[in-house]
Amino acid sequence: MIDGKKVLLSGMQSTGIITLGNYLGALKNWVDLNDDESIQCFYAVMDLHSITVRQEPAALRKNGRILYALYIAAGLDPEKNCLFFQSHVPAHAQLAWILNCYTYMGEMNRMTQFKDKAAKHADNINTGLFTYPVLMAADILLYQADMVPVGKDQMQHLEIARDIAGRFNGIYGDVFTIPEAYIGKNGAKIMSLQDPSKKMSKSDENPNGSILLLDDMDTIMRKFKKAVTDSDGFIAYTDDKPGIKNLIDIYCASTGKTPDETVKEFDGCGYGTFKEAVGESVAAVLKPVQDKYHALIEDKAYVDSLMKENAEKASYYANKTLRKVMKKVGFIELPR
Ligand code: TYM
Repeated sequence: MIDGKKVLLSGMQSTGIITLGNYLGALKNWVDLNDDESIQCFYAVMDLHSITVRQEPAALRKNGRILYALYIAAGLDPEKNCLFFQSHVPAHAQLAWILNCYTYMGEMNRMTQFKDKAAKHADNINTGLFTYPVLMAADILLYQADMVPVGKDQMQHLEIARDIAGRFNGIYGDVFTIPEAYIGKNGAKIMSLQDPSKKMSKSDENPNGSILLLDDMDTIMRKFKKAVTDSDGFIAYTDDKPGIKNLIDIYCASTGKTPDETVKEFDGCGYGTFKEAVGESVAAVLKPVQDKYHALIEDKAYVDSLMKENAEKASYYANKTLRKVMKKVGFIELPR
């Protein structure tokens, strides 16, 4: 609790321009919480996590700035929410080290994301990739978060954060709040436009599979036109038609309509008409975000001042928890 408010924490990696999946599955849900005065929200650019896969330094810097500006452009109010970079708060790495010593190899071995990423980056299976969920636990536990909004792909990591917190509390008393998953209004997992069995991802090798938040309107329409569907020729919301189902999910998340309403609306229409409507609905949602983004990214002084203020605010809360943890573990406090 901070000032009687519940604490919520989440974040995204800055490994590239975020996708429509990140936006509809996460960021848009965060923005919906802007006006909830009963919650104090922390949202970080998770740049420490990003280097578990090799990054070009200039690209990492650029993508971090872009993501930070996109948080604000999408509607996260920087006055109400604490928006910061993970690497600006050293306590994340410090707590992660400590928690590493309370986490078992067997637990990390079970993580499906590690297995997936290790298979994808066989030439760089580093220990950071292996202990990635411990850093994520540190992110969450440092702020004593009650709620963590994540998509289904991150649920296993949240579970392990809960286990680590419970284990630590079992040894040292009530140090950490045990976080709960928070499922936003729109929990849909957005799939690749080229392979609807895979989630839409920043790192997809096929650029037509993902809509990136800074894609221009023509590119958005072109990618939707190329979306993989089936040869049935009718619109229905069913698992047997994963391509169309995904397009319906995207349309619903963009317009606020339900799948039933959408199926009725496009009854008798061909896929071409439907794909165009989905593309237009997405373009309409992204256009104001992009306009705001382009204005914001020019204003370096303003963005820098926000980064600084918010890093200080986040550090205050993070250091409070870190001091408590270090004392419990038995480290000597630096004499004043
Ligand atoms: P990341 O950067 O992969 O994704 C950020 C958020 O976007 C959601 N998401 C999606 N939702 C719907 N459809 C999709 N196709 C899709 N792709 C991604 C993810 O579920 C996530 O909510 N490990 C985290 C970042 C992280 C974090 C944390 C999150 C680091 N520390 C602490 C919460 C709390 C990650 O890689 O997210």
